[in-house]
Amino acid sequence: MKEKLLEIKKEALGQISSPDADLEQIRIKYLGKKGELTAVLRGMGALSAEERPVVGQLANEVRASIEEAIAARGAELREKELAEQLCREKIDVTMPGNAPKMGHIHPLTKVQRELENIFIGMGFSIVEGPEVEYDYYNFQALNIPPNHPARDTQDTFYITDNILLRSQTSPVQVRAMEKIKPPIRIISPGRVYRSDAMDATHSPLFHQLEGLVVDKGITMGDLKGMLETFAKSLFGDSTRLRFRPHHFPFTEPSAEVDVSCFVCGGKGCRLCKGEGWMEILGAGMVHPFVLSNCGIDPEVYSGFAFGLGIERITMTRYRIDDIRHLYDNDTRFLEQF
Ligand code: DAH
Repeated sequence: MKEKLLEIKKEALGQISSPDADLEQIRIKYLGKKGELTAVLRGMGALSAEERPVVGQLANEVRASIEEAIAARGAELREKELAEQLCREKIDVTMPGNAPKMGHIHPLTKVQRELENIFIGMGFSIVEGPEVEYDYYNFQALNIPPNHPARDTQDTFYITDNILLRSQTSPVQVRAMEKIKPPIRIISPGRVYRSDAMDATHSPLFHQLEGLVVDKGITMGDLKGMLETFAKSLFGDSTRLRFRPHHFPFTEPSAEVDVSCFVCGGKGCRLCKGEGWMEILGAGMVHPFVLSNCGIDPEVYSGFAFGLGIERITMTRYRIDDIRHLYDNDTRFLEQF
């Protein structure tokens, strides 16, 4: 029996050290419930009382050395595999990296945020209004009744006779005045729609930014001072403003406002088409009719409003000659900003 045990030990250790050893198979074969060592131990009943402890001890030693050998070989194999894996997966940290391609903010968004920051700096808050709007807010409350000729230039997309895609951000003035009582100092940027065919200067969808200030004692002087500060922040300190009389149904008096050309300073150049001036917005004193429509007493309060096209400012600023570039999503164009 001793010989059998020593033979088992020799055979097992030999297999464990072989290069393609399957350690789990070997463990089952020798130490498992139906393994060879177990089989020998089962036969111990046939031994004499003197032999039994001797064989038992030897059997334990054999078991221990097989277990140890399996553990040691296992560790060795794992280490070898790890070393091979590290070798295979070597990373050269000096190689140039694959930088992920980062996008950036669209020029229109960039300009919109810049405008917002200028007005926030002057104490304005930002409010938003719906793009799907009632005829009442887009036109009637702004002193543009049905059949008013001002509707011609602002023809838009109708959902029903009374519901349309807003053609201007001015309806937000009305919504704001209905909700907030003076003093009011808000801007409202957003999308507007008109049923215009797409060309170099027109798009059926574009962006405006509306401004509204209502309080006691607001005058056209406040409007001019505020717009001058705004224009200087946007186009530089030497910028001058020019107010041209105009007509908007919701302001009285109304004006179109030009800035001196930021390229030639007013002398006339290619950008301003020789004019020296560039139109940037419409503005005026809020019409008393509009104030009373919103429940604000025009005898007590007065206000000014203005509206500008974000595309126009962006195109002037970056000298973009075709509005369609702003919507084409051509990265060769967008990457320039
Ligand atoms: N809503 C006008 C437009 O789309 C722009 C405008 C002009 C807005 C004068 C105003 C304003 O608030 O006072 O042409």
